[in-house]
Amino acid sequence: MAEARVVERFRKRTIWFHWIHTAAFLVLLVTGAILFLPGLGGPAAGGLTRFIHRIAVVFFVGMPIVYFIINPRMSLHFIKETLTWGRNDVQWFSQAPDYYFGGDEEKMPPQGHINTGQKMWQFIVLGTGALFLISGFFMWFLKDALAAGVFQWFVIVHDVAFVVALLMLLVHVYLGVIHPRMTESLRSMWDGKISKTYARNHYGKWYDEVAKGKN
Ligand code: HEM
Ligand code: HEM
Repeated sequence: MAEARVVERFRKRTIWFHWIHTAAFLVLLVTGAILFLPGLGGPAAGGLTRFIHRIAVVFFVGMPIVYFIINPRMSLHFIKETLTWGRNDVQWFSQAPDYYFGGDEEKMPPQGHINTGQKMWQFIVLGTGALFLISGFFMWFLKDALAAGVFQWFVIVHDVAFVVALLMLLVHVYLGVIHPRMTESLRSMWDGKISKTYARNHYGKWYDEVAKGKN
């Protein structure tokens, strides 16, 4: 019989946030790709694509703001966690190839609520998010006020963020959905729960605190 999944990993509101934000991101990705790739329309794409892109922006930017207002402590913790790097992370990275190709889990330094790879994804999400926001703001509201050359730079920044975010999203989805080691990942982003064994093996440092009742 499968082990009971009793450890709370994600709260309901976090799960809602993740999926609504993902939906907005995917709409931005598709409409952005239409504007970016000449084969799909590129600069000649119709106004509807640009309109939908802007509607999705409202959700993409609005969701984190709402989440921040509801959970200021958790949100600040997310930012702090994302920006705190140490020797443990270097060690994790150096052993990561072996780990992802089936190497012994015991050899990995024990992880907190997320592992170094997930922290890197969070860093990409925050970093590209800031680039999208700043460049997108200028492209949306100050197009006419900017010199054509300057405007073009913002488009390039937006495009670089697009390519980086897209490539890393593929890795994120692969790890969350397909990788044989992350057996409880997708379900945990559905009902918030993982088993004790999974928690202990993947997030040992965090699980010790949960078990002690600190979390
Ligand atoms: C903060 C959020 C964002 C804002 C404010 C924003 C805003 C904009 C604006 C105003 C444009 C120009 C549309 C036009 O030509 O009328 C644009 C284009 C584009 N956006 Fe976004 N966007 C955001 C997020 C995203 C995201 C998350 C993606 C993809 C993952 C994305 C991908 C693109 C791409 C590829 C283009 C086409 C750029 C080009 O012409 O080469 N955007 N965006
Ligand atoms: C179809 C697309 C996506 C799928 C299938 C997916 C799946 C998942 C899963 C299964 C987890 C839980 C990981 C775990 O702890 O075991 C997760 C976490 C997370 N996701 Fe997504 N996700 C998607 C899109 C996105 C997008 C677009 C963003 C951000 C713009 C995002 C940001 C995050 C973050 C920050 C976490 C927490 C850190 C981490 O576990 O990597 N996800 N996602």
